[in-house]
Amino acid sequence: MYELSAEQREAAAVMRRLLYAQLPSRALVVVAQLGIADMLAEGPTDIATLAERTGTDAVALARLLRSLAVFGVFEEGAEQVYALTPLGEALTSGHPASALPSATLVAGQFGAAWDQLLETVRTGQSPFERSRGISLFTHMEQDEELRAVFDDSQGRGLALELDEILRAIDFSGYPTVVDVGGSDGTFLRKILEAHPGISGIVFDLPGSTSLQAERTARDPLEGRYSVATGDFFDSVPAGGDLYLLSHILHDWDDDRAVQILRTCRTAMSDDATLMVVDLIAADRGQRDERLHTAALMDLYMLSLFGGNGGQERTAAQVEVLLGKAGFRITRVDALPSGMNVIRAVPAA
Ligand SMILES: C[S@@+](CC[C@H](N)C(=O)[O-])C[C@H]1O[C@@H](n2cnc3c(N)ncnc32)[C@H](O)[C@@H]1O
Repeated sequence: MYELSAEQREAAAVMRRLLYAQLPSRALVVVAQLGIADMLAEGPTDIATLAERTGTDAVALARLLRSLAVFGVFEEGAEQVYALTPLGEALTSGHPASALPSATLVAGQFGAAWDQLLETVRTGQSPFERSRGISLFTHMEQDEELRAVFDDSQGRGLALELDEILRAIDFSGYPTVVDVGGSDGTFLRKILEAHPGISGIVFDLPGSTSLQAERTARDPLEGRYSVATGDFFDSVPAGGDLYLLSHILHDWDDDRAVQILRTCRTAMSDDATLMVVDLIAADRGQRDERLHTAALMDLYMLSLFGGNGGQERTAAQVEVLLGKAGFRITRVDALPSGMNVIRAVPAA
């Protein structure tokens, strides 16, 4: 018999929980692939009907849903009737911050990248570089469907963050905002909706911005919102009072991140402001639970961009990059949810 100390026992139990944590993730992805959350959004449904509508085995499906009910995703009523809980609603397509597009990415090419983590750690290269010799964003320029799901996932993820950011940060002093790498423009739209005096430009690669043409054509923001296309390693639109880089630097290694900052600096007048929005990464030795999201996202970045690619950073690390590109930090707002909003101006 092994003698286990209380500490060893606890460690071994926690280790198993971490190890098996991919099972609820996989179960949720299956729920997303089968469209079950949207079915249950129509009302509580019995397992036989769900199995028939999804073309699945009723016994297997019941076990999947029952386990997820223990995690709070569903409620199981009498006679195997399942209903959505508020947690489960977050997987419906109608939820404003729906996780459904993220689940679709995990079910598809992003999950396939996670499966290659061993090879990514061995080689340091991203799976997209290994298989196609191109970066994720170049790959997405050639895959319209992936691009659309990615933009949707980014927009719905931002919906989670924007209320807090708009409460904490006063945008009213910036009449023109350039949202650099602004994807589907969710962030910029929220700023413009809150501030009728502000206008803005969302700037991104052609694959992202072309998806917005239809939306912009029937725009309620009456000409205050426009779209520009290009490569932020070459140039970004000039004339902004605020240059927003939301979840941009964390996609790139230090050298590329500095290049993006330099392109912004070139476009900016001396009195314009740069704003970097990213998660706060843990400093060495920190184990605070509030940093778990950034640690998860750093693994996410590693799996997509390789060892020396996208990464979460501390404010001090961002400060070094800003300094190299000719900026001086004027303010750091560390928000309770774990986001950093860093403002900087051109250094004298
Ligand atoms: C992680 S997303 C961030 C989107 C949005 N700003 C947000 O906060 O959710 C990164 C964005 O950078 C854009 N991007 C990547 N490479 C780019 C390039 N070379 N030029 C312009 N935009 C680029 C991507 O298309 C994508 O929309």
